[in-house]
Amino acid sequence: MKPISIAIDGPSGAGKSSIAKHLAKEMGFIYVDTGALYRAVGYEVLRQGGEPSDSDFVEKLLPGLKVELKHINGNQRVFVNDEDVSDLIRTPEVSMAASAVSAIPAVRRFLFDLQRETARKNNCIMDGRDIGTVVLPDADVKIFLTATVEDRANRRFLELQQKGIETTYEEVLEDMKKRDFDDSNRKTAPLRKADDAVEVDTTGNTFEQSVEILSRLINDKLKERSGS
Ligand code: DC
Repeated sequence: MKPISIAIDGPSGAGKSSIAKHLAKEMGFIYVDTGALYRAVGYEVLRQGGEPSDSDFVEKLLPGLKVELKHINGNQRVFVNDEDVSDLIRTPEVSMAASAVSAIPAVRRFLFDLQRETARKNNCIMDGRDIGTVVLPDADVKIFLTATVEDRANRRFLELQQKGIETTYEEVLEDMKKRDFDDSNRKTAPLRKADDAVEVDTTGNTFEQSVEILSRLINDKLKERSGS
């Protein structure tokens, strides 16, 4: 039987990854955080001293780059040339680098097969920006998760504080506005709601409320699809 795939797209900080991770555990699906792949490329560009928006530099680096996803005890880990970089890619600097490299078509092509193959082999919840529109246009369920930029910046700021990463709310808000703009206005695979996706606004919700809404939505859609 063909594996089930659930696509969750939306801007940064809407709660995609924490909600998707939780739901995937509950359903016994793997959780695929595709943002981590763009972060891995952005991280490597910075490590090599390159400028993430310099498409010549980035394209030259791709043939020597191996990016892998592994699921260990239900948790996704990302490897760059056999090094586990999962924790190193969560800084504000890598966030901005990821957004910049994600606008380069060669980078999107480079990461496309890995995402498709993962969904072909596993029941999965995959989150990103173009999952419902480009990567998995035939996903069984498509959700577009949003929230106001202030709400999202606040969540991201608290997350970074918890990790001991020094920043201010204002800085996070400015970075988020820039990423929203760049991710939505790039030429290749911009952030956009698929026509057949259901939009869910998580502004003001607790984590539990958002989990409940998505869980119900996914179950209803899967029941509808199986005709029961
Ligand atoms: O989800 P995230 O914040 O970790 O993603 C980091 C960047 O990667 C984001 O600014 C845009 C890009 N991205 C993308 O272009 N397409 C995806 N499917 C996932 C992320």
